[in-house]
Amino acid sequence: MKGVNKELKLILVAGARPNFMKIAPIISDIKKFNNPINPTNSSNPTNPINPSNSSNPINPINPINYILVHTGQHYDVEMSETFFRELELPKPDINLAVGSASHAVQTGEILIRFEKVCLDEKPDWVIVVGDVNSTMACALVAVKLSIKVAHVEAGLRSFDRTMPEEINRLVTDAISDLLFTPSVDGDENLMREGVPKEKIKRVGNIMIDTLIANLDKARARKAWEKFGVERGNYVFVTLHRPSNVDDREVMSGIFTNLIRLSEKAPVIFPVHPRTRKQLEGFGMLRQAENSRALKLLDPIGYHDTIGLVENSRFVLTDSGGLQEETTFLKVPCLTLRPNTERPVTISHGTNKLTSLETMERDFDYVLNGYHPKGTIPDLWDGRTGERIIEILVKA
Ligand code: UD1
Repeated sequence: MKGVNKELKLILVAGARPNFMKIAPIISDIKKFNNPINPTNSSNPTNPINPSNSSNPINPINPINYILVHTGQHYDVEMSETFFRELELPKPDINLAVGSASHAVQTGEILIRFEKVCLDEKPDWVIVVGDVNSTMACALVAVKLSIKVAHVEAGLRSFDRTMPEEINRLVTDAISDLLFTPSVDGDENLMREGVPKEKIKRVGNIMIDTLIANLDKARARKAWEKFGVERGNYVFVTLHRPSNVDDREVMSGIFTNLIRLSEKAPVIFPVHPRTRKQLEGFGMLRQAENSRALKLLDPIGYHDTIGLVENSRFVLTDSGGLQEETTFLKVPCLTLRPNTERPVTISHGTNKLTSLETMERDFDYVLNGYHPKGTIPDLWDGRTGERIIEILVKA
């Protein structure tokens, strides 16, 4: 069959912590595609991605060739290397080492350095995930070089353009050739923006692939023992959004509420580097050191995070990923934001928005058992990576 024997070459881009959980299943499913299970071995089910006994027109002997590019947006061991190790990600083939800077400088550095990679490597597709600066910058480079772009986790909208991630989502989706969405609202948002229907592919939630694949390992670590809390009787907190942590008054109000909450249930709070820097600047770190029930930790790995989330009374967060992970694990989640780009976690899941004004009341509600029980959204089933690979090889 003419044309289908060409080897497919992908560049996979990862830059910041939440990207690593989204790239891991794609790499794992590429490996499965490249090594179809021998159908004559009856103990192995047929490889669903590359079933060598089906009419799949892709030649199974032509592997998918991929290059993993780390932009270096996140570079601390706890923000990057730990995740590569725990998720069994291969060492990046190329690290652009852009580091931290203002949005313009960080984005500009990625543009300059990634263009060279694309010119050298000449991939068929660049695959970007999520909504961080690396996502938008690499998509922009590729599309300007006429390289096709696929965006995984497309279509999410908070409709809040003060969020840097919303700008990254809008730009990336506007220029991508394939838009892999996690939920129906993603399809609807894209269609409303005039994206042709044939570019939109609802494949489910890629983060949930990683969650399912790692749940046993996460449970086995019994992280609550390590952090000195009783299983099922603590609150897990993460906060890093500029809108929550960059303003002294807001941060101070949140902190006062957390200290009050810790008198009712111990609070475990792994602190993002951005948040730590702000807390230090505001002189609030010492305040926490005096409170034994509010435990501030350095950033923790993926397995400990999932283990702590699953066994917490509830989660307070401003992270996107945690809203989804709590929905899947059916753990109550309070999201400290005025909006979410993941409305399905509210309509179907266990998520509820909260604010500085309402958080104390919301804590009491949840601690007293009043919270949505939730169901798991469609296609959050651990097979999103498979669906993505299938579509890419056909495209
Ligand atoms: C970025 C993403 C955000 C995502 C978050 C997850 C953008 C615009 N934001 O935010 O969507 O939710 O990652 O963590 O892309 N820093 C370190 N070590 C590191 C990385 C960062 O100390 O390894 C510090 C630096 O002081 C840096 C600050 O954290 O200036 C912010 O890092 P940056 O990547 O700009 O944004 P995040 O807040 O991490």
